[in-house]
Amino acid sequence: MPTLVIVGAQWGDEAKGKLVDVLGSKADLVVRYSGGNNAGHTVIVGGQEFRFHLIPAGILHPAVTAVLGSGMVVCPKGLLEEYDRTRELRPDLGRLAVSKAAHVVFPYHRTLDALEEQAKGDNKVGTTSRGIGPAYQDKASRIGIRMGEFVEPRVFRERLREVLEYKNRLLSLLGGEPMDFEALHDEYAAYAERIRPWVAETDVLVQEAVASGKRVLFEGAQGSMLDLDCGTYPFVTSSHPVAGGACLGTGIGPRAIDGVVGVCKAYTTRVGSGPFPTELLDETGDWIRTKGHEFGTTTGRGRRCGWLDLVVLRHSARVNSLTGLVVTRLDVLSGLERLLVCTSYRLDGEQIVHVPSNTFELAAVEPVYESLPGWDGDLRSCRRWDDLPRTARDYLRFLEEFTSVPIAAVSVGPDREETVPVRPELLWGG
Ligand code: GDP
Ligand code: IMO
Ligand code: MG
Repeated sequence: MPTLVIVGAQWGDEAKGKLVDVLGSKADLVVRYSGGNNAGHTVIVGGQEFRFHLIPAGILHPAVTAVLGSGMVVCPKGLLEEYDRTRELRPDLGRLAVSKAAHVVFPYHRTLDALEEQAKGDNKVGTTSRGIGPAYQDKASRIGIRMGEFVEPRVFRERLREVLEYKNRLLSLLGGEPMDFEALHDEYAAYAERIRPWVAETDVLVQEAVASGKRVLFEGAQGSMLDLDCGTYPFVTSSHPVAGGACLGTGIGPRAIDGVVGVCKAYTTRVGSGPFPTELLDETGDWIRTKGHEFGTTTGRGRRCGWLDLVVLRHSARVNSLTGLVVTRLDVLSGLERLLVCTSYRLDGEQIVHVPSNTFELAAVEPVYESLPGWDGDLRSCRRWDDLPRTARDYLRFLEEFTSVPIAAVSVGPDREETVPVRPELLWGG
């Protein structure tokens, strides 16, 4: 399996970053294919914490080429800050390549993100305010500025003039301040100078790596339930976090993907608005948030916490064609006497076993739970399947049987080392 896609199987923050880091030592290329700096991927190596928003987490391995793929929207300022910060902590980083076709996020996107959220009032999405939605809107409206244009000074000046005129009219209409062309141009032209050496035809880079049998890891951002089509629309992000997004956002076809690994927490969290059937608005929810330090890597917002939703997980297994699961944060659940897992929903008196695509229906479902025995003790020192408490193994087997996806590994702590391999063959042997 030389190519593996790592996807979030829930609503994001499943610990994709940690898994990418663990597998990164075996990868030649690590490629982000969707989203922008709405993502926050944490990697902890020997007690040192790295937070990646745009740069693939695999860059910590010096032999890796880290690619920002064509499906991404990239904030140049954020990219440079992140690169400099990471370089300071770790001078021997891998190589960086940024797709010519990736779209550039400008300050007007961020301002429009905030203005659109304001206008939505109670129906706001609860975005990360990074301008992600407005940047993808520009892409779909065919007025976005791409990296290849951004790093060509004459082209960039022309394109920015044309787009900013339109954006300024839009900003005024929504009650915002118009932006000064020269100031914006000069600031961003300076960023472009620094980014130019990284900008490349990354689709060809990825295609050639795949063709020559190199190991390519596709680093998903967000989660399947935040996918524009497969998620809880309209409370979603504006891109395609699911495995199919790895094709659209990097230049490969579906047959080039050998394995798809879904990362899921042993429970469920969600940041921002939108339906969340198994949400716990009680002291158990608070307990999980506190014990698991469930606060966003990007925005610092408290994450909404709830029981494991297997209906959601099975939906993810199907929309992504998952070949394996990595269950994370099992350690957080230690100490709870009983654990509930949602196996179906009740909607208008009827039992349903799928995720309804209508948000108003998903918001109205009542979860139907099975109760499983919990476990006690600190799991962070477990390194083998047999080290896990029996009831924890039963919990994992239940999950596996329900979703029909084999568990590849279990994570019992944030550090690289705090991992229990289960079926290493699904993860490049590691
Ligand atoms: P990502 O966006 O999917 O990469 O996940 P985030 O980095 O936003 O959030 C995952 C958080 O969980 C990070 O703070 C990780 O350091 C932490 N983490 C990862 N795996 C585990 C685990 O098994 N147990 C615990 N307690 N924390 C973990
Ligand atoms: P990682 O990669 C969790 C959520 C936001 C909001 C919705 C839309 O770290 O798992 P956006 O700014 O994308 O327009 O916001 O999506 N969201 C995430 N939630 N993890 C993420 O990324 C997220 N990226 C976006 O909270 O509800
Ligand atoms: Mg995150």
